[in-house]
Amino acid sequence: MTDRSRARAQAQAQEAFLNDQRVVKAKALLAEASREHGASLVGPRPADPELAVSYKDALDRFAEVRGGNLFYPYLGSGFGHGALVELADGSVKLDMICGIGVHYFGHGAPGLSDRLIEAALQDTVMQGNLQQTDASLILSTSLCDLANRTGASLDHCFLTTSGAMANENALKLAFQRHRPADRILAFEGAFAGRTLALSQITDNPAYRVGLPPTLAVDFVPFFDERDPDGSTERTLAALHGHLDRHPGKHSMMILELVQGEGGYYPGDRSFFRSILTLLRDRDIAIVFDEIQTFGRTQQPFAFQYFGLEEYADLVTLGKTSQVCATLFGDEYRPAPGLISQTFTGATSSIAAAQFVVDAFAKGRLFGDGGRVAEVSHRFMQGFANLSRVHPDWLQGPFGLGAMLAFTAFGGNRESTRRLLDELFSQGVVAFSTGGSVSRVRFLPPVGVIRDEEIDRVLEILAASLEVVAGERSSRDPH
Ligand SMILES: Cc1ncc(COP(=O)(O)O)c(C=O)c1O
Repeated sequence: MTDRSRARAQAQAQEAFLNDQRVVKAKALLAEASREHGASLVGPRPADPELAVSYKDALDRFAEVRGGNLFYPYLGSGFGHGALVELADGSVKLDMICGIGVHYFGHGAPGLSDRLIEAALQDTVMQGNLQQTDASLILSTSLCDLANRTGASLDHCFLTTSGAMANENALKLAFQRHRPADRILAFEGAFAGRTLALSQITDNPAYRVGLPPTLAVDFVPFFDERDPDGSTERTLAALHGHLDRHPGKHSMMILELVQGEGGYYPGDRSFFRSILTLLRDRDIAIVFDEIQTFGRTQQPFAFQYFGLEEYADLVTLGKTSQVCATLFGDEYRPAPGLISQTFTGATSSIAAAQFVVDAFAKGRLFGDGGRVAEVSHRFMQGFANLSRVHPDWLQGPFGLGAMLAFTAFGGNRESTRRLLDELFSQGVVAFSTGGSVSRVRFLPPVGVIRDEEIDRVLEILAASLEVVAGERSSRDPH
């Protein structure tokens, strides 16, 4: 008997409630209405001029109350359909960033709404360490199963509400197991989150202005695909340098296998294996931060894609997973009291997470012929074609799988920002990434996007690049 059927068999009152004909009928009616209304969104559409004043007013009030402008003039209406999202000004956009990688199944996903309705009918809004339902048990088990299906040994799962908190928990587990070692290794260009501790690992000085130092972090260069062997040698040399300077003081290394906020730079299997072998020899914990990569390579986890299962001591995930989690092996079990949380997730988020994990376990998303590969290929080809015709406008493609990026106008920060705004006004929501060289990135809704929508995005991209190129040449005709 599976966890799910055992738990369900016990929960007779809840089962009877969900099978009540009124509930069944209400759910079917809601699904029907959602399908019908969703079908009214057929493509990008401009804002309704009559809503312009009230929309601007709402955005201004929002900026005021949160103490800073929003990146985009984006306020969702709460309605969407697949890759399309409606804003409160009546416009409809093709969403190619999905809340920075969250809405993998797009907006108003049909199968998902059903589970969310069931979750809304449960007795509590939130789950936490003291009170959880079988949904938390099933989700935790499913995440471990998904992570271990190619040979990793991640038998434990601790759920949480944000990527940052999943990383914080991983740090605590690794520090406790390797005490008194208290230093961390990380890659240059890393992003780990925005807590006081994680801001030391996130390799961006702008994100820690005015913050006190909390952790000792030693950085080594990330993989450089232009020089794989030299890059591996340089990283190993830097690693040896830190290990020799602080003998026995490193508790863990935290790694993004595809650098996300750093600019969409994928690593390489043999590069990683060289580093990880050294870390293993020195008994240093290996933490794979999969918060952005989860579901976006040709395997559910990037460590599976790169074949690094044997090194996965701790793995964190988030974004696409809806509920975030820290997975860990038996050696990293915490002593009582180390990690605990009032909220581990909303009941509806846990239901959504289960929908995602079930789809990842069963669907045709992964592998060479999977949807991740198809979506990736179509976008990458489109970027490559644009780059061939207009090499000054667009360089790339970059990234891996469904983490897609290109550089616009040589990575000029101002032109990249202008391009994002132009894309937005023409109906595509994207975002930037990278440090001194800005890139445009897409995290498309892989689970729902259609080929013709990808082609439409590429058309809008070409038109937007043309507008920005025109502006640049009128400013600087030479
Ligand atoms: C690799 C990585 N780690 C950690 C985080 C932090 O996640 P959250 O924003 O949910 O706290 C992010 C978010 O972008 C990320 O990309």
